[in-house]
Amino acid sequence: MYNGHIMFFHEIAEGQPDPIFGLNEAFQADVRPNKLNLIIGIYKDDQLRSHLMGSVMQAKNQIASQDVMADYLPIDGLSDLHEQLGMIVFGETRWKESHGRVYTAQSVGGTGALQVGGQFLCQEVSKSIAISTPTWPTHRSIFERAGMRVETYPYYSRDKHGIDFDGLCSSLKRMTEKTVVLLHPVCHNPTGCDPSTEQWKELSRIIREKRLLPFFDFAYQGLGEGLEKDRQAIDIFMNDGHEMLIAYSCAKNFSLYCQRVGVLFVVDENAAVKLRVGSQIKKIIRSLYSNPPAHGARIVAALLQDAALKEKWKKELDAMRHRISVIRESLIRRLGVNFEFLRHHKGMFSFIDLDKSQVQQLINQFAIYLIDNGRISLTGLNSENIDYVASSITAVCKKA
Ligand code: LMR
Repeated sequence: MYNGHIMFFHEIAEGQPDPIFGLNEAFQADVRPNKLNLIIGIYKDDQLRSHLMGSVMQAKNQIASQDVMADYLPIDGLSDLHEQLGMIVFGETRWKESHGRVYTAQSVGGTGALQVGGQFLCQEVSKSIAISTPTWPTHRSIFERAGMRVETYPYYSRDKHGIDFDGLCSSLKRMTEKTVVLLHPVCHNPTGCDPSTEQWKELSRIIREKRLLPFFDFAYQGLGEGLEKDRQAIDIFMNDGHEMLIAYSCAKNFSLYCQRVGVLFVVDENAAVKLRVGSQIKKIIRSLYSNPPAHGARIVAALLQDAALKEKWKKELDAMRHRISVIRESLIRRLGVNFEFLRHHKGMFSFIDLDKSQVQQLINQFAIYLIDNGRISLTGLNSENIDYVASSITAVCKKA
């Protein structure tokens, strides 16, 4: 009781801070002048600034006049965005052939696509989903909140410093029919380790044979080996005739982190099924947030509709990927032979195989912030701090 009123909130327990955003808050609060942020997957330049890509800035200026339109978008968002991203994700030819059976909804970032997809699956298809160990920490909570049972499959072996492919395959073979399998088609987050082409083919075969349902979390297209190569897993699964879901994010490859542009694709058997699937997904979206915001979606659609801007964007994306690989190589050179395994990693992250206490030492003694599974976001490194980071990692490894 307080001033004669009944109190409702006083017994609420405090939740754990988010492993990524929560740590970022701790970083902001740290007053040490030499602190370094290797936490979140945000692309930064050599001055450690994150800013809009030039092509994206131009597209943003182009749409300034359309942006005065204040109407709602449809429940499933901007159709130009669906079309343009469909061609990027599936390739132009396949998109032309298949879009009649692919239901597409704009989402609030890739996270929103995972959430809507999870709710749809739980309601209509399956209540079980399997995620990799390790994975992006938010996956578990997204699917649990959607009402699904979350199980895990082995993915990374610390002994091999790479994928535990036998463990992964055996685990898939033991799964119950209709289990959803969450896969990262490229730049696995957090390990940076992706299956080879042959391994993707084998995974597709097992998933099909065991009647499991693939759900791809596609957040880093263009940052692995290039836009086309990075969709190889999607190509393989499409060739094998899977029904599947893809949650797509434009945060990293369009530098549109705060605009929350994403898309959910559901590849269906035919147009009639697509219609029914879409009708259910629209109901879910309508009750969650009604319809998505327009600004970021218009930027991406305008950029991809303009041939010159699209070319410029591809070049900028290539340059980002190149910078990441230069940083990775420089780090390997400084860390020495024991860290050669980093060379096989793809994307913004590398998993440097430190345990939690080593990570704590890096934070406490050296003011180097990274998440507790030992993942570093490489573009937090630059020519000025890389020696310090490498020598600090070497120091905590020696103490172990
Ligand atoms: C990350 O893993 O750092 C990014 O995907 C950002 C996020 O939302 O966690």
